[in-house]
Amino acid sequence: MKKKKIKVKKKSIIIILLLILIIVSYNPVKSIIQLKNLGYKFSSAIKIYRDGLKEEVLNNDYSMTLDNIITTDYYDESKITAYFSIKYLEYDDFNININKWLKLGYSSTDINYVYKINNDELNKKISEKYIKDITNYLSYDYFKVDKLDRYLNYFNGDYSDTIIKVNIGLDKEFYKDPVIVKDYSIDVIVNKYNKLDASFVPKDITELTKCSEKGQYLALDAKLAFDKMCDASIKDGMNLGVTSSYRSYDDQNKIYNSYLKSNGQDYVNKYVAFPGYSEHQTGLALDVKSVVASPFKSTKEYKWMLDNSYKYGFILRYSKDKEDITGYNAEAWHFRYVGIDRAKYIHENGITYEEYCAIFM
Ligand code: DAL
Ligand code: ZN
Repeated sequence: MKKKKIKVKKKSIIIILLLILIIVSYNPVKSIIQLKNLGYKFSSAIKIYRDGLKEEVLNNDYSMTLDNIITTDYYDESKITAYFSIKYLEYDDFNININKWLKLGYSSTDINYVYKINNDELNKKISEKYIKDITNYLSYDYFKVDKLDRYLNYFNGDYSDTIIKVNIGLDKEFYKDPVIVKDYSIDVIVNKYNKLDASFVPKDITELTKCSEKGQYLALDAKLAFDKMCDASIKDGMNLGVTSSYRSYDDQNKIYNSYLKSNGQDYVNKYVAFPGYSEHQTGLALDVKSVVASPFKSTKEYKWMLDNSYKYGFILRYSKDKEDITGYNAEAWHFRYVGIDRAKYIHENGITYEEYCAIFM
């Protein structure tokens, strides 16, 4: 009796196992299990199977983007390849946006870049119309969303150069529509595209005591750096002097008008900043000379400044090959304090302060 019972039990277990085996090897179930094992939700797996996409999906890695969109109204089967390469992010409207952007023509690479930046203004801009080559702009760290339209209008065939030039302000005419400088520090940039208020005066303006006659002033940090540079230059047998340093807005106004009267508009355009636009008003710039020889460009002091000033945080501000960027003719005498690290980078890379700021600030 007992033996019979065990036999029946064994038999039914075998039957159950066989049944399970048949069910599991039944194609739909097998496929759904495979898709589930890959990571897909049950509802997504069913949809993938029903739509005949099983093979394609199983041939790719698990896509959270596909998993999340496939059961929604934003899913578009013709975009399945793109879904595989779009990195899923848990943002509001993710499905709505990728559906919209793919429809507009953006690639999965474009979309991944846009989401890497994840900026509402950028999302809005790219939703308005298809912007060709958007990834070529977005891949530069110095891309600025608020300048996107200006990059597109100015585009000169080189994405990086376009971004740098527009960041500088070179897509606009000199002095037209400048940025008003609000934050002052040793890295402030003042030029034909960035102006100071007439009332701006650096608060720690200090009189120079070395390598200078009385009446020359710089902001304290620049003054202390200049002292060190002066000591080093004397040690090397140089005779540096200062012809101009901090100039107030009124000083610059007088200088500008006096040069305008004596030398004309063309000259001031090339050599004298319009009041408010002069670096001299920052207290961080100065004009140097050789006490024993002139013109400065032909002196050993000029050569020494070119080779050494960066070690103390100063840069030659207006050089010959960069006139189109600075907007000034070369000035061998005009140096600007920017701090040692920045000066070193600028010196080693042969760039202007405009380019440095366009890339790093
Ligand atoms: N000479 C320089 C450009 C100035 O006037 O600030
Ligand atoms: Zn100067």
